[in-house]
Amino acid sequence: MSLTHEPAFGVYLHWPFCLSKCPYCDFNSHVRHGGIDEARYVRAFAREIAATAERVPGRVVSTIFFGGGTPSLMQPSTVEALLNEIAKHWIILPGAEVTLEANPTSVEAERFRGYRAAGVNRVSLGVQSLDDTSLKELGRLHTAREALDAVAIARSIFTRYSFDLIYARPRQTPQQWATELRLAIAEAAEHLSLYQLTIEPGTPFFALHRAGKIATPDEDTGRVLYDTTQEICAGAGLPAYEISNHARPGAECRHNLVYWRGHEYAGIGPGAHGRLNIGGVRYATETEKRPESWLMRVEAGGHGLTVNEPLMTGEQADEYLLMGLRLAEGIDPERYQKLAGRPLDEKRISILKEEGAIESMADGRLRVTLSGFPVLDAVVADLAA
Ligand SMILES: C[S@@+](CC[C@H](N)C(=O)[O-])C[C@H]1O[C@@H](n2cnc3c(N)ncnc32)[C@H](O)[C@@H]1O
Ligand code: SF4
Repeated sequence: MSLTHEPAFGVYLHWPFCLSKCPYCDFNSHVRHGGIDEARYVRAFAREIAATAERVPGRVVSTIFFGGGTPSLMQPSTVEALLNEIAKHWIILPGAEVTLEANPTSVEAERFRGYRAAGVNRVSLGVQSLDDTSLKELGRLHTAREALDAVAIARSIFTRYSFDLIYARPRQTPQQWATELRLAIAEAAEHLSLYQLTIEPGTPFFALHRAGKIATPDEDTGRVLYDTTQEICAGAGLPAYEISNHARPGAECRHNLVYWRGHEYAGIGPGAHGRLNIGGVRYATETEKRPESWLMRVEAGGHGLTVNEPLMTGEQADEYLLMGLRLAEGIDPERYQKLAGRPLDEKRISILKEEGAIESMADGRLRVTLSGFPVLDAVVADLAA
């Protein structure tokens, strides 16, 4: 599975606005009833792109990702202007993957054609569920019918599209999930993101969960839900290439592979993260999260950076494990050794192998097994220790 111009360079742009806040979500997303001055944001994004390009000039951009928040609230002309700004400072590889995250409402689907004309060639739709009662409970503003209509519009305009579903929802049984997933696969083309509901601290779901008002499946049911997901997707030709992402071979999201393979990416916009390689040093960057504060910082100083830290070799090695072991292709122990300055601990490897949590592949790469994935965090912690 090698899908990128190597070394890959991705550009992530964060659009931090949503029409309403979903009660489970802790992404950097904000509701602004007074409207958003898109032209002012375009000018600020342009300045931050220019400032980043000054730090990492001459890059060939292989992937671009408009994430959020809800990027499908942007006017197509805004998306076009941002792509033009990227092209002014870097070379965009012919055939680069350009993804936009979209909420599946009818209003947003009307903009899809405009996004394609602007240069977007892949959309990722937040369908979340195909059950109307669950969609209400998740605070979504669309019905299942509306979401499927948006998927159909996406299919008629883009050759590449994906959608997200959240499972392990309150009261959801493995049988219900299996039926919903089969329905989803019938509508999917090449890619599906399937996330287990996480109760994130600070969200309304967290408070409800603590008060005993919503219950998520217990560990055993969670495990059955996960296994059901793997079985049905693999059977339909959409195996997991990452712990929560499924694709037909060759249709993986190349932008997300940039993160998981530890390549370089620029993070532009409020609350965006980046990893930049400058003079042999890898920098972790983060920008101001609050949109208005980010805007003021960029207008005053040309960028919204709040974090710009060189990563120590150990940190880089840990990050490589943390990201790389999410992938079905696993990690290259030699690359780990180069980053860490020491090899992985053979003893720990053999214990984890005996437990059936990891395995070596014919080419020497190391990967987490299907039964190891549900305890991925523990496996990573063990190997990194
Ligand atoms: C940046 S968000 C959403 C994009 C878009 N705004 C939407 O809601 O359709 C990306 C995805 O993360 C998933 N997600 C967000 N919060 C989650 C949570 N607490 N548990 C599981 N998945 C979550 C959802 O599937 C969502 O589509
Ligand atoms: S799930 Fe999507 S629409 Fe809902 S608040 Fe989060 S980013 Fe916004």
